[in-house]
Amino acid sequence: MQIIFDEKQQIFHLYNEKISYVIQVEKQRYLKHCYYGKRLKKWRGGIQSFYYDRGFCANPVVEDRTFSLDTQQREFPESGQGDFRSPAYELMDAQGDRNARFFYQGFQILKGKTAPEGLPHVYTEQVAEAMTLEITLQDEVRNQRILLYYTIYEDAVVTRFAKWINDGKEPVEISRFLSMSMDLPTQGYDVLTFAGAHVEEKNMYRRPLCADAVVIESRRGTSSPQATPFLGLLSSQTTEEQGEVLGVNLIYSGDFYGSVQCGQYGTTRVQIGLNPFQFQWKLHPQESFCTPEAVLVYSEQGLGGMTEIFHKLYRERVCRGTYREKERPVLLNSWEGMYFDINEEKILNLAEEAAELGIELLVMDDGWFKGRNTDTTSLGDWVEDKTKFPDGLQNLAKRVKQKGIEFGIWFEPEMISEKSDLYRTHSDWVIRSPLYDPIRSRHQLVLDLSNPAVCEYLIQSVGRILEPGNISYVKWDMNRHLTDLGSVYLGRENQMELSHRYVLGLYHVMETLTERFPQVLFESCSSGGGRFDAGMLYYMPQTWTSDNTDAICRLKIQHGTSFLFPPVTMGAHVSACPNHQVGRTTPLATRFAVAAAGNLGYELDLKNLSKEEKEEVKAQIKEYKKRRRTVQFGTYYRLANPFCENQGAWNIVSEDGMEVIFTHVQILARAAYRMPVIRLRGLDPDAIYTDCATGQEYGGDELMYAGIRIPRIRQDFSSTTIAVSYTHLRAHETELH
Ligand code: DGJ
Repeated sequence: MQIIFDEKQQIFHLYNEKISYVIQVEKQRYLKHCYYGKRLKKWRGGIQSFYYDRGFCANPVVEDRTFSLDTQQREFPESGQGDFRSPAYELMDAQGDRNARFFYQGFQILKGKTAPEGLPHVYTEQVAEAMTLEITLQDEVRNQRILLYYTIYEDAVVTRFAKWINDGKEPVEISRFLSMSMDLPTQGYDVLTFAGAHVEEKNMYRRPLCADAVVIESRRGTSSPQATPFLGLLSSQTTEEQGEVLGVNLIYSGDFYGSVQCGQYGTTRVQIGLNPFQFQWKLHPQESFCTPEAVLVYSEQGLGGMTEIFHKLYRERVCRGTYREKERPVLLNSWEGMYFDINEEKILNLAEEAAELGIELLVMDDGWFKGRNTDTTSLGDWVEDKTKFPDGLQNLAKRVKQKGIEFGIWFEPEMISEKSDLYRTHSDWVIRSPLYDPIRSRHQLVLDLSNPAVCEYLIQSVGRILEPGNISYVKWDMNRHLTDLGSVYLGRENQMELSHRYVLGLYHVMETLTERFPQVLFESCSSGGGRFDAGMLYYMPQTWTSDNTDAICRLKIQHGTSFLFPPVTMGAHVSACPNHQVGRTTPLATRFAVAAAGNLGYELDLKNLSKEEKEEVKAQIKEYKKRRRTVQFGTYYRLANPFCENQGAWNIVSEDGMEVIFTHVQILARAAYRMPVIRLRGLDPDAIYTDCATGQEYGGDELMYAGIRIPRIRQDFSSTTIAVSYTHLRAHETELH
C-alpha cells in the first residue's frame, strides 16, 4: 500500500493493489473528495471541478460567484459557509457563536496505524500492515484543529476517524462530530441497511435512492437491535456476486447516526458517526476528542465480495485475544431450559448429561445470584445465592469441571435493580433525572458508567468471581436502553456527554477485565443481538445473535448478520420445540443445521429429550466438532435469500479449501415441488470434490456453475446438509465430455 501527495495537482492518493482513495486540496483551503473505488494507476483529474454561477449559492471565496461549497464534493464539510447539506461537525463557543472556519493546513504520512484513543478499532500487528494519512484542518481564529485520519491496509479497506484539538484559551462545545463524510460524484445508488427489533434483528432493506436522504440512527444508548451502524451503497445491478458496493460500518456500540443524502447537482453524500442527538462535548484548552472509527470497504464482486472483506477484517483485526484463533466450545446454556429455576443439583445434573453428549461448556445463565428468582430483583449484587448454591459458586464450578466440562456464567453488569444491596448503598449510581421517578424497563435501571467509581465497582465485582480461575466463559448481557439521561456524577455542563461517556466507561471496563482474564471466553449479548456490533467484538469475540432461537426465524437473522459478521462471532443454539418465541415445531435436524452455521450451542433441558433425540444430539455434536474449524474459520457464502425466497442456503469453504459444507433449508413444503437448484461458491473449478457421505464425485465447476438439485422432502422446515471434500485436481481426469 502507498500514500502519495502530488504537489502539482494538490492531491493525496492512497492506494493498494485493489483500491484507490483520492482527495484534493481545493483553493488551498477545502478538501475535495475525488474518488474511492477500484485501483487507479494515477489520478490525472478526469473528474474535474467545473464552476458555475448558480442560484442560492453562497460564495466563500471573495469575488468568485462561480465557487460555492454547496456544489462541491467534500471530504469533511462544515455548516455555516454555504454547504447546506448535512455537515460533519458543529460547535458552539462560550458566547453562543456557532460559526467556524477550518481550512486545510497540512498533512503527514505515517507508517502503520494511528488509532482513536480509548475506542475499539481495526488494529495492526506490524507496522507494515498499514499506512496512515493525517490531514490537519485548522481554524486560525478560534485556534482549533481537526485532524482527519485515513488508514489504508492491504485489502480493499480504508478506515477513518477524526480528532479535535483545542489549542485555544477558551473551552468549545462540540455539538456534532462525525467519523467520516464523503461526497460521491454520482447518484442512482441502492441503499442497503439492516434494521429490526428485539427477537428480529438485522432485517435487510434495499431501496433505490432517487432524491432526499436515508437516515439510520440509534438514540437508545446502544447500537440496538432496531438499527445497525452500516450503510451500503450499491449500483442498481449489484448482486451477491457482481457489481460495485461501498460498505460503511462504524465500530461503535452506542448512539450513532448515518445518512446517505442526494446533493442538488448529482452527487451523493455518505456520513456516519456519533449521533448528535443529545450530544455535546465540552472541550477544554489543550484537550482532544476522538471520534469512533469508520470502516469503508469497497468491493466490485458484489455483496459477497464485501462480506468476505468484512469477515476477514473483523475476525483477524478487530477480534482479539486467545480466542481469536481458537475453536470455540460447544456449549449448553441453562436459560431456555430452566430460566430462573436453577440450583446446585440441577446444574450438576445438567453438566453430567451435557458432558455425556460431548458438550464442552456449561453456561449457567441468569438466576444464580442473591435473591434472583425473577427479573425484578438483585442486579448489581454479584454474589451467589446461598439458598440455591449452599456449597458456593467456586465449588460448583469445580464440581462441574470434574465432570469433564468447562463452566461459564451470566452477568448483566451495567444494570441495577432497585431491590438490591447495591441500590440501597448507591442509588446515586443510576442514570436518571433528579426530578422524576426513573423509568423502568424489565424492572431495572442503568448504572452510570460515566462515573469511574461505578466502572471500578464492576471491574471488582466481576473480577472477584473470575479471579479463582474456575470460570472459563462469561456471557455479558444488557437488557434495556437508556432513558432519563442524567448523571449525578457529571456536572451541569457535562450532562450532554453522558451517552458517549457511558460507552467509553463500558469500553474501559471490558478492556480491563478481558486483559486481566485472557483465558476467559467472553460472549456479548443484549437481549440477543441488541448490541451485535464491531465495537463489542473488539473486546468479546462472539455475540449471542438473537433471543429468537427458532430455526426458521434464525435463517433471516443470521443472513442479515452475516453481511458484516463471520460465523465464528455468532452464537447459535438448538432449542426445544415448540419454540419458546414463536411456538413453531421444526425438526431437530434443521435446528442443528441452522445453529451449526455459527458457534454451536444447545439451550434446552436435556432431561426432556427422548433417548433417540439424545443420540441424535450426540451425533450432531460429533459431526460439528469434525467440521468446526471450517465453520468457524472458513469462508462463508450466502447462496439464497430467505427474506424473499422460500429457502435459505449457504456454503462454507475451509481455510485450506479442502472441505466444503453446504446447507439448504426449505421453509414451507410445496405440493408442486419446484426442485430448487443451488449453485455453490468459492470452490476450485478445476478440482474434483467428493460427497463425504455418499462418495459421489462432483467437479468444482459443476457445483458452482450448474449447481446441485435439492431432493424433495415432504415436510415444512426440512434441511439438507452436504459436506464435500476436495479430492484431486481435474488435470488428472483424461476424459472430457
Ligand atoms: C437476555 C438474554 O438474551 C437471554 O439469553 C438470557 O440471558 C436472559 N437475558 C436472562 O435474563
